[in-house]
Amino acid sequence: MPLIQVDTLDVTIRRRDGTPVQPVRGVSLCVDAGETLALVGESGCGKSLTCLAIAGLLPRRARAQGRVVMQDTDLLALPRRAARLRRRALIASVFQDATNALNPVRPIGWQVAEAIRLRRSVTRAEAGNEAVRLLGRVGLPEPERRAREYPHQFSGGMNQRAMIALAIAGRPHLLIADEATTALDVTIQAQILDLIADLQAELGMGMIFVTHDLGIVAQAADRAAVMYAGRIVETAPVTALFASPRHPYTRGLLQALPRVDHDGRPLSTIDGIVPPPDRMPPGCAFAPRCPRVGAGCDATIPVSQPLTEAPARSVACHRPVPLSEEV
Ligand SMILES: Nc1ncnc2c1ncn2[C@@H]1O[C@H](COP(=O)(O)OP(=O)(O)OP(=O)(O)O)[C@@H](O)[C@H]1O
Ligand SMILES: [Mg+2]
Repeated sequence: MPLIQVDTLDVTIRRRDGTPVQPVRGVSLCVDAGETLALVGESGCGKSLTCLAIAGLLPRRARAQGRVVMQDTDLLALPRRAARLRRRALIASVFQDATNALNPVRPIGWQVAEAIRLRRSVTRAEAGNEAVRLLGRVGLPEPERRAREYPHQFSGGMNQRAMIALAIAGRPHLLIADEATTALDVTIQAQILDLIADLQAELGMGMIFVTHDLGIVAQAADRAAVMYAGRIVETAPVTALFASPRHPYTRGLLQALPRVDHDGRPLSTIDGIVPPPDRMPPGCAFAPRCPRVGAGCDATIPVSQPLTEAPARSVACHRPVPLSEEV
């Protein structure tokens, strides 16, 4: 049984003028214990709203429908308070610019130690020591001294690292990291990803990882789900996805990647933009930008289907890229 199973998740937002839009549509995904699933796709595809819906942190005007199942319980079906308690025990999330999630009137080290004590029976002193160790491991310089300082004494990047320490301190079953390391130096980012990988091996922590950096996806994720216009269009183990993307959108994203072995060809980009939720084209939302578009693509929305030759992969496309074509 997967650690988390999300079934046909929709997010509907009521706009200020009262009209509803649906930026997330029919998203199904699962993550196993110890596994990292990367969510990728251009800006506005619905990655953050998907994460917020799973974490129970959607803005008030938004509603999630579908199923988010952990430990045999559908979190979306629980009463609000019960869902909050259940999520607190199972899920931790870190978003970009998470600084406002820190308590401004408590020292950083105290906050991390509290998160440790909340979940584990350790003494105050042990929790304090572990907090300092954890702050060191997320790349905070002089962690012993810094642990006694307050969020306003930290730079943005240091607060971001403190937030990551805080999220991990409670040893969550699932960590949701939405662009959580994007603004950090690459060396610090690599150090944090190593720390997370250790925890995954040690505790079986699962992770949903959102990043714009496909290089990091190749390095840090086991599987990737590619989102376009609110839907998942392709899911595959990362090695397979990078070697032979089957959705034309995935191929477009990969062709826009600078490569070390690049032979002088100009990088390509995908023409056009992601349609906003209130202006979805009929049929496949990618059809207007798709180099492989053909008859029928604008008629029906393609259903996600497992590949016969690779059942661990699935693609939602009327005219998928043939296996023989390379990136
Ligand atoms: N509170 C909101 N009210 C109305 N529309 C919203 C709201 N939040 C997000 N949206 C819309 O939902 C769509 C998906 O947004 P989301 O933030 O999930 O995208 P994303 O994939 O995380 O993008 P990025 O890579 O830029 O973070 C976008 O079209 C966005 O404009
Ligand atoms: Mg986002």
